[in-house]
Order: sequence, then C-alpha cells, then structure tokens
Amino acid sequence: MSQTTKIAVVGAGSISESHLKSYASNPQAELYAICDLNEERARAKAEKYNIPNVYTDYNEMLKDPAIEAISICTWNNSHAPISIAALNAGKHVLCEKPLCKTVEEALAVQEAVRRSGKTLQVGFVRRYASNTRIVKEYIDNGDFGELYYAKATCIRRLGNPGGWFSDIERSGGGPLIDLGVHVIDLCWYLMGRPKVKSVSGNTYRKLGNRSNVKNLSYYKAADYNAEHNDVEDLANAVIRFENGASLLVDVSFTLHAKKDEISVKLFGEKGGFEVEPELAIVTEKYDTILNVTPQVNNLSFDFVSGFQDEIDHFIGVCRGERETLSPVEDGVEMMKILCGIYESAEKGVEVRF
Ligand SMILES: NC(=O)c1ccc[n+]([C@@H]2O[C@H](COP(=O)([O-])OP(=O)(O)OC[C@H]3O[C@@H](n4cnc5c(N)ncnc54)[C@H](O)[C@@H]3O)[C@@H](O)[C@H]2O)c1
Repeated sequence: MSQTTKIAVVGAGSISESHLKSYASNPQAELYAICDLNEERARAKAEKYNIPNVYTDYNEMLKDPAIEAISICTWNNSHAPISIAALNAGKHVLCEKPLCKTVEEALAVQEAVRRSGKTLQVGFVRRYASNTRIVKEYIDNGDFGELYYAKATCIRRLGNPGGWFSDIERSGGGPLIDLGVHVIDLCWYLMGRPKVKSVSGNTYRKLGNRSNVKNLSYYKAADYNAEHNDVEDLANAVIRFENGASLLVDVSFTLHAKKDEISVKLFGEKGGFEVEPELAIVTEKYDTILNVTPQVNNLSFDFVSGFQDEIDHFIGVCRGERETLSPVEDGVEMMKILCGIYESAEKGVEVRF
C-alpha cells in the first residue's frame, strides 16, 4: 500500500467541507480528486484544498485506478448509484447518511459491497463522537442493564433547507430521512442493534416550508430554492423491537414549537443516560438516585471532532487496520425502519417486519 491513501470526494456542497477538512488533517490521507455537477463549486474546493483532479462526472473520475476510496456528499438520490459504481471500480466508500432512498436500493448497495470485498461505511457520524464512545463503554460493561426504552427528539421550529432537501424525488423525504436517521440510528446502535419487529408512524404536511418567515435565519441547501416542497413537516413514530424494547421518536423541519430541541435518552434496568443535548448518567446507589455528569471536554456532540473521528476511522478501514463501526448492513436496517415509518404513515396502520 502506498504511504498515503488517495481520496476522492463526490459532491462539493455544505457537508463536503467537513469531509475535506478532516481528510486534510489526516496525515495518512491524500485529497486526490473532487467531483460536482457544478464545476465552479468543485474548482473552488480544489483550490482551497489543493486537490489536483477535478471532475463533473463521477463515472469518469472512478476510471482512475489511483483512487482508493471515495466520500459521497451528494443528494440522497445519487447515494446508491455512486456507491455501486465506486464499489464496482474497487474503491472503499464513505457514504453520507441516509444510505439511499429505498430498501431496494439499500439491498443493491449491500450486494455490491459483498461482491466487491470493499467496505462501505455509512456516515452515521454520531456513532464516532466522543460522547457516544464514552457511554458505549458503560453499556458494554453492563452498567445500565438491559436498555428497554429510548426517546429521541429533533425538532426544528423553522428549518426546511429547501432545494433538493424539499424535493422528495432527490431526498426521499423530509425531516424523518434527514434528521430522524441520526437520532434513530444512535438509539438503535446504543440499544445493541435489536431486530425490528414493527413500526407505527405519522407524518404531517401542515405548515409548508414557511419561507415567508422573517427575522430568523436557518440552515439552507447550497442551491436554496423555496419554490418546491413536497416533503413532510413533522414525523413521529414508535418502533418496536423483537426483544420487547421500544423507541419513540419525533422530528420536524418546522413546527409551532417555542424553541428548537434535540434530545436522545435511553433507559435501562440499572440506569439511564442522555447523549443529547448533553451527556448525563442516571443511576441508583445505596437507595439513592444519582444524576452523574461525566467530566469530559465535550458533553455535547462536537461537529468538528465528530467528523474528524469518523474520517480517521474510515482511513484506518481503507488501510486494513480496523473494521468500520457503521457497516452497510446497518444502513440497510435503517432504511427498513425509515421506509417502514413512511409506509405506516401513508396507510395509517402499523407495519410489521
Ligand atoms: N452527517 C451530517 O450531519 C450531514 C449534514 C448535512 C448533510 N448531510 C448529508 O450530506 C449529503 C449532502 O448534503 P449537503 O447539505 O452537503 O447538500 P448540498 O446541496 O449543500 O450539496 C450537495 C452537492 O452535491 C452535488 N451533486 C448532487 N448530485 C451529484 C452527482 N450525481 N454528481 C456530482 N455532484 C452531485 C450538488 O451539485 C451539490 O453541490 C446529503 O446526503 C445529506 O443528507 C449529512
């Protein structure tokens, strides 16, 4: 293996910055190529990060045998075709969440991973964050006993990013597939990835994108456009697992809520904990309940170090030094859950697996 691992990044929009910065900070990674449908955007990143090869067509880029691995930072509708093309070309893949738009696509990506013998790491960045790693050690040592209930919320009162995010053809859905995927995955991962038994969900399109609202700024897609919006504003669901555990979730792009809210809480037989908004542990000792605050650098999810840890881990995977923490199989399970919730909401019934 060469001294550095040659990396290509597809998609040069908002989140690519976190990938590029993290690769640039990893001495074993070499930023070798960048691709975007928007050539000017790709060239700007190439200049900033000193990347020698610029493309607008990922199929052309993948012909270069020097590329060993790629990061996919494009719209959700291109995650599966780009992943499959890259795996077929013998590259390792780090694919941003969600893995894709449908279960059928997810299974096709999984098949390509198995055929190629390469690794696909799903961009479940929160799995790599320090607060998750800290609490995972407690879980693995049995400190909380069986985790039988989880509750996750990610509410934006105003935050439909517009552009491709609000175009169901390109995104696959709204806050559920965009934000819900993070918090549902985090709970499921920390619960020990139990097998899903059923899901029951509701989605609402009551408020539109509220692009009329003034005096309050929010996250927008690189190509912001408020004209098209056919995704849900709000989704909620209960997810049942075969081991009897359950997970309750609600997420929104907009809601008449007093403030934005993120919370991820898990409850076990011997103790409980929160990973969002801040790491906190709840337990009982000598008949007294204790709320414990770990003394660590970051009690909350830190975007910069979270991405650095995810990318550093991926480089280790490419170099054959370790296994990924977020394999394609988990991306497939997450697509089953998300698509099951959309199906349940549409039909108004519980979906069983
Ligand atoms: N992990 C996280 O916390 C996180 C945060 C934000 C976004 N994301 C994910 O990252 C992905 C991109 O989101 P974003 O906010 O950067 O969007 P964005 O709109 O800012 O950027 C996407 C870029 O991809 C390019 N693109 C689309 N299809 C392409 C193709 N076939 N070939 C080449 N380029 C293509 C677009 O031209 C655009 O420049 C999404 O899947 C999103 O869910 C993850």
